[in-house]
Amino acid sequence: MKKQTLLYALIVLTMSCETDKKTEDTASKYVEESHSYAKPNESVIKHLDLNIDVNFTTKTIDGTATYTIDTNNASEIILDSKFLEIESVEADGKATNFNLGDFDEQLGQALHISIENDTKQISVHYKTTDKTEALQWLNPQQTADKTHPFLFTQGQAILTRSWIPIQDSPQIRITYDATVKVPKELMAVMSAENPKEKTVDGIYTFKMKQPISPYLMALAVGDIAYKAVSNRTGVYAEKSMVDKAQAEFSDMEKMVVAAENLYGDYDWDQFDVIVLPPSFPFGGMENPRLTFATPTVIAGDKSLTSLIAHELAHSWSGNLVTNATWNDFWLNEGFTVYFEIRIMEALYGKDRANMIALIGRQDLEEEVEGFKDEPEMTKLKLDLTDKNPDDGMNSIAYDKGYLFLRTLEEKVGRDKFDAFLKNYFKTNAFSTVTTEGFIDYLNSNLLEPNGIDFNVDEWVYQAGVPNNQAIIVSDKFENAKNTLQSFIDNKTVDASKTSNWTTQEWVHFIRNFPETITTEDLKRLDDAFDLTNSSNSHIAMVWYEQAINHDYHGNDVDQRIEDFLIRVGRRWYVSTLYKAFKRNDKVDDALAIYNKARANYHSVTANTIDDLLGYNQ
Ligand code: BES
Ligand code: ZN
Repeated sequence: MKKQTLLYALIVLTMSCETDKKTEDTASKYVEESHSYAKPNESVIKHLDLNIDVNFTTKTIDGTATYTIDTNNASEIILDSKFLEIESVEADGKATNFNLGDFDEQLGQALHISIENDTKQISVHYKTTDKTEALQWLNPQQTADKTHPFLFTQGQAILTRSWIPIQDSPQIRITYDATVKVPKELMAVMSAENPKEKTVDGIYTFKMKQPISPYLMALAVGDIAYKAVSNRTGVYAEKSMVDKAQAEFSDMEKMVVAAENLYGDYDWDQFDVIVLPPSFPFGGMENPRLTFATPTVIAGDKSLTSLIAHELAHSWSGNLVTNATWNDFWLNEGFTVYFEIRIMEALYGKDRANMIALIGRQDLEEEVEGFKDEPEMTKLKLDLTDKNPDDGMNSIAYDKGYLFLRTLEEKVGRDKFDAFLKNYFKTNAFSTVTTEGFIDYLNSNLLEPNGIDFNVDEWVYQAGVPNNQAIIVSDKFENAKNTLQSFIDNKTVDASKTSNWTTQEWVHFIRNFPETITTEDLKRLDDAFDLTNSSNSHIAMVWYEQAINHDYHGNDVDQRIEDFLIRVGRRWYVSTLYKAFKRNDKVDDALAIYNKARANYHSVTANTIDDLLGYNQ
């Protein structure tokens, strides 16, 4: 009897310890966040089984999302949902009550699902609608090969909820399995283990075994093929692009090796890139195992491949160690630009790295100037409550973030800084970090042990750029500026001066035209270097910006600008050009083009340009 009581007491004791531990684990594990309705401290998703049909005729995806969940004795679990039709919901296989909350323009709706305190699994049967923002359905004319339609998704920042009902916060991490049915002539790929060939029945299965944040869920469907670059890197693209892509990205394996040498093993096994049709709204998107990229990065001479280094770097900064909220976005992008430039330095040397850094610094100066009436937007740590997280996704996070880390590196020395970063990625792997968490880690692992005083708070919490910023110099850029000055003075350019120029030197040369440059001078440069017809998208973009700024209309440049804006949907490029029209009081010209171009843009680009030009649908 005594023995039994003891045993019973022991059981109760261990049980209560376990409950305590459980509350400790889950309680306050997730920080408050304004861009998701989910309450993960109460109930949280852990694994997703996605089973969907992709229908190009109705332009919808429909199917079932089944989640394994963890709950803390909650009576409901809340998912985010936007523009989805929710058909029915089950908890452990039995129909359960659900309801959708009020619709918010940014956040969509909260999907409340009733559960029992021992519910292990919920299934949501749903369908996307024609408003679904993450998806872009392309007709054959909008692809490179022009014979088959194409679909791709874009999840970051808060769009995944518009194609999958999900707890759409970067703090959530899930593994997933997916079964995706597509028309037989097409192939499906995801941010997961991918097929290398088409299947006969159009059914594809996927597995992502490492836990990822929902904004990294991604799917592309099209008539695509695969070519390997090394045994763990390769490219997917439409047939007419795949060889070009393979050649352009032939240094991918070297990039992975350089990255691993810097900050530790690549944890995702495979690193592939899919080259999408030109309406893809970003340069690149770091979907795990499968970066999505714009075809405008293919210049024919590998000159724009720092974009691949950038997306690869996100495999550490972003995908492995993730910003906890979108207010901490600089932790994803600032670190990634720093890492990108280190990879570029390792492969191609300091000259190339410093040119990329200086282009970023000029972007930063322009961004700070652009925010002169909203200086709080130039802080690294933002407050995006009640705002679209997109509002914080500008050069500040990227280029001020970069400059902060580079300045820190120069202050503490590269060896110490690299060791610190390597540890940071290792310690925080597969979890999220807040700005405050990073600063604590920085203080206790780098600054205090080395007795270093650094104005971290000023960099992170104050507007503008502190005056201890690292000085970046480039002889090549000095030369390009001298060449520009001598052209302004003498009206000719000695061809031997520019024959070896890289894309970065051209970009620097063009962006630094004096305000007083004449249209005659622009015509001379255009005739000498055929800038209007440049096949390099970055050179073309900065040249078009100058044409708009300086009222230059030679060599049919207006038509080329229109063609570019209709064909390309990359938000950074097109918004630079529409902004130039606006700045120069040419909104009508911009709208005339935008009316023709808008249908080709993904919703994230269209939303930005709608706001910029005051366009009403
Ligand atoms: N993760 C970003 C793209 C992004 C940012 C999508 C915010 C949605 C919201 C990606 O890594 C990126 O930074 N792309 C840049 C590439 C460049 C900095 C090399 C781009 O698209 O231009
Ligand atoms: Zn990035």
